[in-house]
Amino acid sequence: MREGEHLMDETRQGEATVVAGPGAGGRKLYLESYGCQMNFSDSEIVASILADAGYQTTRDADDADLVLLNTCAIRDNAEQRVRNRLVHFKTNKQKNPSLVVGVLGCMAERLRDQLLEEEQLVDLVVGPDAYRDLPNLVDQVEGGQKAVNVLLSREETYAEISPVRLDSSGVTAFISIMRGCDNMCSFCVVPFTRGRERSRDPHSIVQEARTLFDQGYREVTLLGQNVDSYKWNIDNKGVVKEEGQPVVRFAELLDMVAQVNPDLRVRFSTSHPKDMTDDVLHAMARHENICKYIHLPVQSGHSEVLKRMNRGYTREWYLERIAAIRRIMPGCAISTDIITGFCGETQEEHEATLSLMDEVGYDMAFMFKYSERPKTLAERKFEDDVPEEVKGSRLQEVIARQMIHGKARTEALVGQVHRVLIEGTSKKRDDQFFGRTTHNTVAVFLKGDHKPGEYVNVHVTSCTAVTLLGEVTNQPADT
Ligand code: 5AD
Ligand code: SF4
Repeated sequence: MREGEHLMDETRQGEATVVAGPGAGGRKLYLESYGCQMNFSDSEIVASILADAGYQTTRDADDADLVLLNTCAIRDNAEQRVRNRLVHFKTNKQKNPSLVVGVLGCMAERLRDQLLEEEQLVDLVVGPDAYRDLPNLVDQVEGGQKAVNVLLSREETYAEISPVRLDSSGVTAFISIMRGCDNMCSFCVVPFTRGRERSRDPHSIVQEARTLFDQGYREVTLLGQNVDSYKWNIDNKGVVKEEGQPVVRFAELLDMVAQVNPDLRVRFSTSHPKDMTDDVLHAMARHENICKYIHLPVQSGHSEVLKRMNRGYTREWYLERIAAIRRIMPGCAISTDIITGFCGETQEEHEATLSLMDEVGYDMAFMFKYSERPKTLAERKFEDDVPEEVKGSRLQEVIARQMIHGKARTEALVGQVHRVLIEGTSKKRDDQFFGRTTHNTVAVFLKGDHKPGEYVNVHVTSCTAVTLLGEVTNQPADT
C-alpha cells in the first residue's frame, strides 16, 4: 500500500533487486532490476541468454565483468534513481576500465542516444525485444565500440527460452504470456518502450508451468501488460491465422494452466477493466487453484478524467465489472492503481476517486502522482496543470482512504481459517514462515515441521494493517 509499490514500478521487495543465479562459469554478470514484474521476468531471460554465452551471475558488483541495469521509465522518479546508479557505476569504471556497463529495458528504448553519446554513462544500450542479441553486442563493446540495439519487434516473445530463475524461493515464479501494449492510455509510456502487443504460444506457456511444477514450484504468476487481450492464432480482426490450430483467449489459457496440477496455484496480472470478460471470471471460479485475487487498475473515479486518460471505460462500466466479480466470486480480493493530479483534474473529479474507493473497498492499492512522460498522448494534448502540492495532497488523501479500507479488509479475516502456500522464512522472525492466502494476503505462523512449498491451513488469530498472524490448524479452510 505504499506509494509507488507496483507491478510496473518499484518492486515488492524494495527499490531494486539484485539478482543472481547459476551460470556456465567464466565471466561474471551483475544484474539489477527496476520496475515491474515484467522487468524481473525479462531479467531471467537475459540471465539465460548470457549463461549460454558463458556468463555466471554474481551478487557482488565489484566482482563483475558485465553490469546490466534493467530499467523502468514509467515515472520520472524511477528514471532518476537509475541515473544515480549509472553515475555510481561510471565511477567504478574508472577503477576498472575493462568493466562493461549496460542499460536494458524501457529507459534504453527512451534515452539511447542521451545515455550513450551525450552523457557517456554506458557502453551498451539494449531494448526489451533485443535481448537475443546481447552476446554479440557485448562482444562488440569488448572490441572497443559502443553497442546499441533498441529495435522493437512484432513477434518476439522469447517463447522457447528457459528463464534462469533468479533470487528464487523455489516456490513462486513468473511466466510472461505476452509482451507490449496496444492500449495507448494517454499518460503511459509503455506502448512506446515495449512496442506492439503480441501473445506467446500457449503450449510453451503450459510447458513452462509444467516444468516449474516438476521442479517443486507451487505458484505461477502469468504476466502481461493487459492479460485480458491475450489471444493466440487470431488477429485483431478476429481472423484465424493458422487453420486447424485452436484459438486461445485468456479464459482458455487460464483453463489450460490451471489443469497442469491442482496443487499449482495460478495468479495473473494485469487485468484491464475494458477487456475483462465474464468468461475470465467464470474460469477463475471453476478452478480452485486460480487465486481469487484481481488487480484491476481504475486510475480515476471520474468518467471525464477516464476519457482524457483514454482508458476506454466509464466509472459506471468499471463499477459494473466490480459487481460482476462479486457476483461470480463472492469474497474475491480486488486491488487497483490510482493516479492523482492527472491533467485538468478538478477537486470534484478527485472526490469522485475517493467515493469510488468507498464503493469498492479495495483490499490493496498502488497510488501515484501523475508524472508527465515525453511523447505520450497526454504530453502532446493536455497541460500538466495540477500544481505539485495539489497532486501531493490528493495522493495523501487517497493513501489515507486506502489505509482505512485495507485495514478493514484484513481485520475481517481474523477468526477465519485460510489455506496458505508457504513461501519462506518470515523477515522478522527465524522461527516463523510466511505465505499467502488465495487473496494474496501475507500470513505468518510458527514453522513446526512444515517446509516451503507446502500448503497449510492457518487459523488467523490477529493481524496488523496488512499481515495476518495465526497458527497452523487441522480445521478445514474457509477459503
Ligand atoms: N504517471 C503516474 N503514474 C503512472 N502510471 C503509468 N504511467 C504513469 C504516469 N505517467 C501508473 C498507472 C499504471 C501503473 C502501472 O503506473 O497507475 O496502472
Ligand atoms: Fe500503459 Fe494503459 Fe498499456 Fe497499462 S494498459 S501498459 S497503463 S498503455
